[in-house]
Order: sequence, then C-alpha cells, then structure tokens
Amino acid sequence: MEPVKVGLLGLGTVGSGVVRVLARNADEIQRRAGRGIRIVRASARDLTRERDCDLGGITLTSQPYEVVDDPEVQIVLELIGGTGLARELVMRAIDNGKHVVTANKALIALHGNEIFARASAQGVTVAFEAAVGGGIPIIKAIREALSGNTIEWLAGIINGTGNFILTEMRDKGRDFEDVLSEAQSLGYAEADPTFDVEGVDAAHKLTILASIAFGIPLQFDRVYTEGITRITREDVGNAAELGYRIKHLGIARRQPEGIELRVHPTLIPERRLLANVDGVMNAVLVRGDAVGPTLYYGPGAGAEPTASAVVADLVDVARDLTVDPNNRVPHLAFQPDALADLPVLPIEEAISAYYLHLRAADRPGVLADITRILGERGISIEAVLQPQPAEEAEDASIVILTAPVRESHMNDAIEAIQRMDAITMPLTKIRVESLK
Ligand code: HSE
Repeated sequence: MEPVKVGLLGLGTVGSGVVRVLARNADEIQRRAGRGIRIVRASARDLTRERDCDLGGITLTSQPYEVVDDPEVQIVLELIGGTGLARELVMRAIDNGKHVVTANKALIALHGNEIFARASAQGVTVAFEAAVGGGIPIIKAIREALSGNTIEWLAGIINGTGNFILTEMRDKGRDFEDVLSEAQSLGYAEADPTFDVEGVDAAHKLTILASIAFGIPLQFDRVYTEGITRITREDVGNAAELGYRIKHLGIARRQPEGIELRVHPTLIPERRLLANVDGVMNAVLVRGDAVGPTLYYGPGAGAEPTASAVVADLVDVARDLTVDPNNRVPHLAFQPDALADLPVLPIEEAISAYYLHLRAADRPGVLADITRILGERGISIEAVLQPQPAEEAEDASIVILTAPVRESHMNDAIEAIQRMDAITMPLTKIRVESLK
C-alpha cells in the first residue's frame, strides 16, 4: 500500500523530533498503521538553519501555504504554534479536505469549537494528543478508555516548565529566573515563557481536558488562572512543615450547579503520588464514577516525548482514512450535537481548603481575633503554625490551614482579617486540595 503523505508545518524542536522518530521507528509504524507514513513536504521560516534531523527526501519550502495547498499531502501536521498563522493554515488545510494533526494547545483551546465544526462539515479529522501532557496519552485515555464513566473530577500537573521550576526551587534552593533560562534552553518553555509561569499554558490544556471529560464546549475564557510567580521559598518551607508540597495544578470538577475550572498553585499532601511528580514530568489524576481514581504520568514536554504523541495521532489518522466520518471518535469525545451547556462556575463558587500566611504584630489576642473572624463565618481551622520569628523581627508569621469552604466565604474572612490593625503585610492565600 502507498505510504500516507504528510505535510509538515514547522521544523523546530518538536518538528525535528517527529522527523527523527518517524525515520527511526519506520518499520514499527508501518506494522501498526498497515502502511508507511512519509513526510513529503515541510515548511520552515529559515531554511538555512541547521536541523537536528535528516531532511533527505523532504521537499523544503519557506512558504507554509505551499504545504497546505499541495494536492499530494493527505495529512497536515501543524507544529508552528500560536493562534494567528497556525489557525489560518489549519482552516485552509481543512477546506482543502486534508486531515490535521497538531500539538497546538492554544489553537485548540481558543479556536477548537470553530475548527472541529469546520472539520466535521468537511469530513476530516483534527487530532491533538500532543496538545496536553506532552508524551502522556491523556486525550486518548479520557476520550476513549474512560468512555464508560461519568468523570467526577480531574487534577493535573500539566506544565512541565512550571513544575521544573518549582522542583528546582524546592530541592536546590535555586532562583526562579535561573531555572527558567535552563527550561528555555532545554526546549520545554513556550515561545513566550510568561505563558508557562503565569498559568496560561496550563489553562489552555485544562480547557481541553475539561471539554473531553465533561462533554462541554471549549471555554478557555472561563478558566480561573493564577501562575507560580508569587510563590516564595518561605511558603514552600511552611507547606513542607505541615506535610504538604506546593504544585501548580489544573483542576476541573463537576459540582451540582456546574463545573469548576481553575489553574493555581496548590498545597497537596506530600504522600499523594501527584505531590511526587517532579521536574518536567506531568501527571493527570482522573476520577471516574466506575473506575475510581486513575493516574497518568510521563514527560510533559521535550522533542521526542511530544513527537511520540504526534506520531500516534498520525497512525490513528492513517487508519481513519478509510473510515466513514460519522463513525470516527468525536473530536471532543461526545457527539457534537450532545455537548452539554453545563455552566462554568465563577471562582467565588469553587470549594477548596486554604493555606493562609499572614504577618501580624506579636501581641496577645491577635491569633484569637483571627480565629474568631474565621469561626464567625463557619470556617473550620485544621492546623496553625507559628514559625519561629527571626531575632530582629517585630512581627509574627502565622500560618493557618482551613477545612474546605466556598471561596466567597473565605474572601470575606480575608477582607476582615486584612482590616485588623495588627496585620502588617498583605496576606498570602494558597488553595489546598486533599485529592481524595
Ligand atoms: N511549555 C510547555 C510545558 C510545553 O512546559 O509544559 C509542553 O506543552
């Protein structure tokens, strides 16, 4: 059988990784797909740049439209990233009747609804396994392997750069900027690394996971997003003393009134498997009503781990070429006309426990006033820690762990605490999840 012909957009870190993996594992891939998969044409902005792969047999161009308009190309592989040119090229490829494989989480999170509608109308597939969790087959697991379940919640470490930074800061006491530069040089970080450290990249990925888990449209603009830039070494140390680790999590949870969608630093008990996912590794914990908790772990970024997911999509699409479009796995796991209009809840309605860190004048009655404010609002205290102050310190550091409470009640309590004369610094609030 003739090999499937692929047009590649982008020859960066992941693009070169895909070329290498397709060449190295050509025989295994052919045995699985029933035919070869061959890149026939590729575009890159700068054709003079050295690439870390053998481009023999591939027609190169600096004009990406030549790839999507090439009549020979059956699958367009989009690896240029961003949501401008990438969106135009993907739409054009679909209009040309080509299938698409992409690793572009921003594109799917922001424009997926429109892209999938157009693809369904054209009878083509858009595959995006590499968009979430790098090499972890998390899309396939939720979309296909858990399809007998009602998904209750999921929580994941879904940004490798952020996890790498938090791990190095905790284990080696390194500075934030220094670790970020290393993540960039290793090819983990986004073109704009603020996407990693401010949680935008994780919010893109959570948008996609929530959609396939709950059968709701993609709603990136409804995700509550907080990054890791305000986490201090003091908070990391306090968390450790209380038996917790701080991880940057994306959480999607079904509540009776709607769906919680949130990305933020989170204290999790140190004995949980997720608390021990370090470095660039990602992990997603998914709880289904039938199966219970399931955990998916693996490298969340990097050339060949991401290529692993991309090539699996190419194999899937190669097999799908002869399948009636109506019998293919739906893009968002649920049939397009069966997506639910469950509301995404505002963050004020989320329910979580809290870590509060405050500095207050060191005098009798201050802790009593704080606990009274919490008690009056029905907020139960789980633990209190008063780290030994530095000799010269005039105020005291107080750390409180609360039981789960609605966020609006906690915000109300925090406002009242902040108004106390004794409070000397803005209070730090970090959510706590038991992940039971
Ligand atoms: N910048 C992303 C990360 C790459 O660090 O996880 C993979 O999506």
